[in-house]
Amino acid sequence: MSFRGLTVGIPKEILAGERRVATTPEFVSKMVSEGGKVFVEKGAGECSFFSDEEYRAAGAELLASSEEVFAKSKLILKVKEPRFSEKAGKHEVDMMQEGQYLVSFLHPASPANHEMVRKLAAKGVVAITLDSIPRISRAQTMDALTSMSTAAGYKAVLMAANMLPAFVPMISSAVGTSQPANVVVIGTGVAGLQSLATAKRLGAIVYGADIRPDAREQAKSLGAKIIDVQVPAEVSVGKGGYAMKLPEKWLVKERQSLRESVIMADIVILTALIPGKVAPVLVTEDMVKSMKTGSVIVDVAIDQGGNCEISEAERLVTKYGVNIDGTLNIPSMLPRSSTWMFASNVYNLLGYLIKDGRVVLNMDDEIISSSLVTKDGKIIHSGTLEAMETK
Ligand code: NAI
Repeated sequence: MSFRGLTVGIPKEILAGERRVATTPEFVSKMVSEGGKVFVEKGAGECSFFSDEEYRAAGAELLASSEEVFAKSKLILKVKEPRFSEKAGKHEVDMMQEGQYLVSFLHPASPANHEMVRKLAAKGVVAITLDSIPRISRAQTMDALTSMSTAAGYKAVLMAANMLPAFVPMISSAVGTSQPANVVVIGTGVAGLQSLATAKRLGAIVYGADIRPDAREQAKSLGAKIIDVQVPAEVSVGKGGYAMKLPEKWLVKERQSLRESVIMADIVILTALIPGKVAPVLVTEDMVKSMKTGSVIVDVAIDQGGNCEISEAERLVTKYGVNIDGTLNIPSMLPRSSTWMFASNVYNLLGYLIKDGRVVLNMDDEIISSSLVTKDGKIIHSGTLEAMETK
């Protein structure tokens, strides 16, 4: 790979509470050694514990404002989608130029981002969204969404353990032995499997539920007891082995099957999701009412509406004595590790896209055609176009 002659810009993230940054000094050093020039906004890495001095030592040029970073760079790397910058008094897209490349999580199909995507197209920006990198084996090293789900699954268990008014592992002491906590993980995809593994390491008794037989197998191999959700594979597994949205009749059945396990749980981690769909409600208010007081639910799926009927986005609510955590941006609570994973994924993606200092976009390549959002003044991301039409 060669970054020869390419200018790469790293603005400081501006979303409130966002602590990640798009690259680390380690990857700056790699890009510089391959002939690139890297501009980093001052303070961009401070919340993930990468100092300006470290970026400078790695070969970056530090700039005082995001406007300068946007103005000087051909390729912009960001964690979160562009938004209005209070500091600059303008939208980040308004700081961009025609023919500039943007690599970021854009969540372009989400209605909240349609206006921003239209602005990117109108500006002539070539935007690539990391949330549409396909989950195929040759794209694994570029899959930042999987990395962030790994971070979220791990951290969600620590957050729950911290709130639990009891030990998670079995603790033997002079006064007797405490029982290990029961941790139930619903949805054992990427985030859920990491939650199971983390809870197991903490010494909990772990239970897993998923509608895909493959996901159940993986949960079992991590030592989880499997909750039978009583949904046949013909109903739950679609093309390519992905989970399908369940009709309400099967969701009712699933909730009934989950009820007993949820009620006896000390911790429930919710990560059930069908890509691009609203998360299914699997834990009802009535189930929460029957849970033990002091139990904890972390609704990791909250950014897609949540799996618990009464969780609230970005809030910790206590209802019926149960703490229900709806934190939206969990990976940001683990900023150094999340940033390290994100920066690695982005560097690997760039390695795939850049040839001799130029970004080459081969539309016959699934990785590129799935993740390209805007190009030549047009929106070309199929999920976004579909979402815009049905709005
Ligand atoms: P994934 O697609 O790997 O896993 C989702 C799992 O849910 C799949 O195994 C699927 O079979 C299962 N599932 C779907 N419907 C189900 C049902 N009715 N019952 C039981 N299982 C069901 O997705 P991943 O990457 O693990 O992400 C999970 C969730 O976590 C998503 O909602 C994602 O947006 C969210 N997330 C949230 C973060 C945060 O900061 N709050 C950060 C990262 C991910």
